[in-house]
Amino acid sequence: MTHPDTPPRIAVIGAGNVGAALGGRFVESGYEVAYGVRNPGAGERARERVNAGAGIRPIAEAVEQADVIFLAVPGSAAVDAALSLGAIAGKILVDCNNPVGWDAGPVWSPPEQGSITEAIAARVAGARVVKGFNTFGAEFHADPTVQGDPIDVQLASDDADAKAVVAAIATKAGFNPIDVGPLRNARLLENLAILWIHLAIVEKRGRDVVFTLRPRTAP
Ligand SMILES: NC(=O)c1ccc[n+]([C@@H]2O[C@H](COP(=O)([O-])OP(=O)(O)OC[C@H]3O[C@@H](n4cnc5c(N)ncnc54)[C@H](OP(=O)(O)O)[C@@H]3O)[C@@H](O)[C@H]2O)c1
Repeated sequence: MTHPDTPPRIAVIGAGNVGAALGGRFVESGYEVAYGVRNPGAGERARERVNAGAGIRPIAEAVEQADVIFLAVPGSAAVDAALSLGAIAGKILVDCNNPVGWDAGPVWSPPEQGSITEAIAARVAGARVVKGFNTFGAEFHADPTVQGDPIDVQLASDDADAKAVVAAIATKAGFNPIDVGPLRNARLLENLAILWIHLAIVEKRGRDVVFTLRPRTAP
């Protein structure tokens, strides 16, 4: 990162439901955002989906110019996509992904390292990995409010400084960051996401709900 007072530059890899919404929210919050896309055809499709204030670049270029990279690709592709980002040692990588299988409902289906996040941390040299933005539907990435309050975004990482940078971005973008501890807790966040999918689809509560940590009394 350049200077502590300079806002971090953001790359979003994946311009689908989550990437398009989250990148748009960051643009609206004053951040410089570039989407990294796989090919020019994908770039044209992405242009229709994403905030006009964001750049659309080849993945390597978007990553090179970024301090913080948000990865929002299919869960089954997430580790390979992280490996394909090139040299990202020292950069912060936010894993927004979930390993979702299906057996009459969503089933947590992680890689052997225990979670997508831990697999990325084990295999992508030097990346400062943070888990987050994975436990609610993409509608909330675009508009992170519930009953007028910011929604909780749970963040797990072994890198306290990286977590603080991501928490600051989250706050500026209108989320309420909750520190949920070390990177090993990423698997708990993936399971929270599986539970959210179960509630939304199997229990038919719909997508318009979020998990909230509430103190008994107002602070
Ligand atoms: N949808 C939700 O509400 C939600 C909520 C929380 C978390 N999540 C998680 O967020 C992730 C993204 O979900 P989504 O719904 O946004 O998916 P999506 O709509 O299918 O979008 C996936 C994006 O990833 C790109 N992509 C696919 N493979 C890639 C690769 N190897 N390298 C780079 N880009 C690649 C695709 O672009 P092209 O194929 O055009 O190149 C597409 O833009 C998933 O892991 C999901 O579990 C989803």
